[in-house]
Amino acid sequence: MDKIRARIIGTGRGVPEKILTNADLEKLVDTSDEWITTRTGIKERRIASENEALSDFATIAAKNALEMAQVKPEELDLIILGTVTMDQPIPASACFVQHNLGATNAAAFDFQAGCTGFIYGLSIADQYIRAGSAKKILLIGGEILTKVTDWQDRTTCVLFGDGCGAVVIYAEKGERGILSTSIHSDGSMADFIAMTGGGSRIPTSHQTVDQRLHYIKMKGNETFKVAVRRIESACRESLELAQIPAEGVRWFIPHQANTRIINAVAERLGWPEDRLYINIDRYGNTSAGSIPIGLDEVVRDGKVKADDILLFSAFGAGLTWGSSVVRW
Ligand code: COA
Repeated sequence: MDKIRARIIGTGRGVPEKILTNADLEKLVDTSDEWITTRTGIKERRIASENEALSDFATIAAKNALEMAQVKPEELDLIILGTVTMDQPIPASACFVQHNLGATNAAAFDFQAGCTGFIYGLSIADQYIRAGSAKKILLIGGEILTKVTDWQDRTTCVLFGDGCGAVVIYAEKGERGILSTSIHSDGSMADFIAMTGGGSRIPTSHQTVDQRLHYIKMKGNETFKVAVRRIESACRESLELAQIPAEGVRWFIPHQANTRIINAVAERLGWPEDRLYINIDRYGNTSAGSIPIGLDEVVRDGKVKADDILLFSAFGAGLTWGSSVVRW
């Protein structure tokens, strides 16, 4: 008898119109287009304007995904949103999205796994679907990182961008859908990527603002060293769980933190360039948004065929990392 699987039946993205180029950044901090391009692969990123917040773009991404899936908002059982840049600390931004969509029958919550948000979200959705607790789930990953970026810190401000991606996941019998997810974390490296002010440890005060603790800080070099190995092991693990050989992967759609990381992982797993999806040059690092934005581009460009094997993987704050194999 066919198993119930969680199948992605719609994708969408919502990104700001405003573009910030490397040349623009050269005017803000001591950096160069050459440094940013060779060290990261980034040429430009999207940036939200003053009056735009996460749920605005999450809602656009969601509407596009629902339209492709031909699912009405009222049919959704669950809306889950992976982000570290909510509209406001309370309530969950997923509830704003739910209201914007009119998804009156859906429960909605946010969760946080840094840049690994989308992979964690696939894992959550997969469990709900296979347990029979939900039939139609909207999963959104996205960030407005530029609002928690320190524009005086050249080691981080050149990296981040804004944007959201969404998928509609449907319970269906058959072989298509999420074949495996593998998620991991290691809190001993929590200080590698962190925003230390504004929580219950160091609540917001004049002092936290003066000390710029409301911005993201990253130990980029230390993070880089662990990232490649962890992403590689997560990819191998999820492929093994799915019983798919590495050469069976049609599209590797990784989190877009650095082209050097993506190329190093691809080299270790033996994937040629035409199996990799890279859009970091146009978006920078949109954290939980990067994989679903990339997926939406690949799908809407008609580059994915039924039964193609897609591999997603990510690495980020926590530290967290993971991977997922999907049969399209
Ligand atoms: N422009 C010019 N020079 C810069 C710079 C910038 N924007 N940022 C840093 N530098 C300088 C540093 O000060 C350093 O100078 P020094 O050698 O004189 O001290 C030099 O460039 C090298 O810095 P380093 O941090 O070692 O660079 P790197 O090659 O590691 O690249 C990152 C930095 C952030 C691009 C890279 O480490 C990275 O991608 N890390 C992983 C990020 C990640 O995966 N995060 C998880 C998901 S969010």
